[in-house]
Amino acid sequence: MIQTLEWTAHGVVFIDQTKLPTEEVYVTCTTHQQVADAIRNMVVRGAPAIGVAAAMGIALGVKNSKAENAADLKKDFDQICEIIRQTRPTAVNLFWAIRRMTEKFEFLRIRPIAHIQQALIEEAQRMHAEDIAANQAMGRHGATLMPSSGGVLTHCNAGALATAGYGTALGVIRAAVEQGKKIHVYADETRPFLQGSRLTAWELMKDGIPTTVISDNMAGVMMQQGKIGAIVVGADRIAANGDVANKIGTYTVAVLAKEHGIPFYVAAPISTVDLDTPDGSRIPIEQRNAREVTHIAGKQMTPDGVEIENPAFDVTPAKYVAAIITERGIARAPYENSLRDLAAEIPKHP
Ligand code: MRU
Repeated sequence: MIQTLEWTAHGVVFIDQTKLPTEEVYVTCTTHQQVADAIRNMVVRGAPAIGVAAAMGIALGVKNSKAENAADLKKDFDQICEIIRQTRPTAVNLFWAIRRMTEKFEFLRIRPIAHIQQALIEEAQRMHAEDIAANQAMGRHGATLMPSSGGVLTHCNAGALATAGYGTALGVIRAAVEQGKKIHVYADETRPFLQGSRLTAWELMKDGIPTTVISDNMAGVMMQQGKIGAIVVGADRIAANGDVANKIGTYTVAVLAKEHGIPFYVAAPISTVDLDTPDGSRIPIEQRNAREVTHIAGKQMTPDGVEIENPAFDVTPAKYVAAIITERGIARAPYENSLRDLAAEIPKHP
């Protein structure tokens, strides 16, 4: 199995996703500042992976703290969380992870420092294991929605690399293939960062799942030609009404899917559902560096000085979403009710 990120005695180890698919390089972060940089610079990316990385970064920061009393440790803890919080604004899993680590810290506050340090490391490791279990459960639920054969289109990378392992959207595809369904994946290239062509194609090829990479502007014609039976993507944040923030270009795919009568599914863990955000208009959208658009592999593609936009995510209104696949089951419209019900369930995993 692909190891996206791992807690080790030396620090947090990431597969460097900026180097794939041509180089398989692992980096070890020994401080929480390094983990924050790894998140900001997309060495690790994808909402659930960002959440687990954030938790490991916090655990690492607390482990490195020189505090000798509870008050100083609390000061360090707050500073560490703030540095992690400032990395990327859209994936709600980051803030979910900070909240969960904060709750754990508050619960342990009167314990000896060494005990708190160890317990936070264990909490981060538990979140890693829970994420894999959640993806496998999502796969079991979502596989039932996949066609028995034919093309399934995905956008960006919502695979093992975007999670602790197995993947959300790609987890659904993996589970369907494991059940014997004959799926051929169409992977949108996903400009400007190329998560589809670099990462989705890389991990699906490792698994031997038939895959065709298309540039983003080919998705419409593939649907028109009847090559796509279903679409499944991940999410960075799902508002209470079912609006879905995901990689830029997802909205275009969803609108095209509607026109062609193709079901558009979203697979995401409950930690991606943000019931505090009523609808998609309130989801903060990260604007990234113009250089991601102006340059490909270091080569300039646009004239000097031209204006550039680079929103990293868009919002797909709930009306385009046929179902939201979570580890606790499948939510359908009206999402206000179905998501609230699933979020309220007591989790079954460890
Ligand atoms: O900018 P990225 O690469 O972090 O964006 C990733 C996505 O948009 C994914 O589709 C989303 O996080 C779901 S990953 C399981």
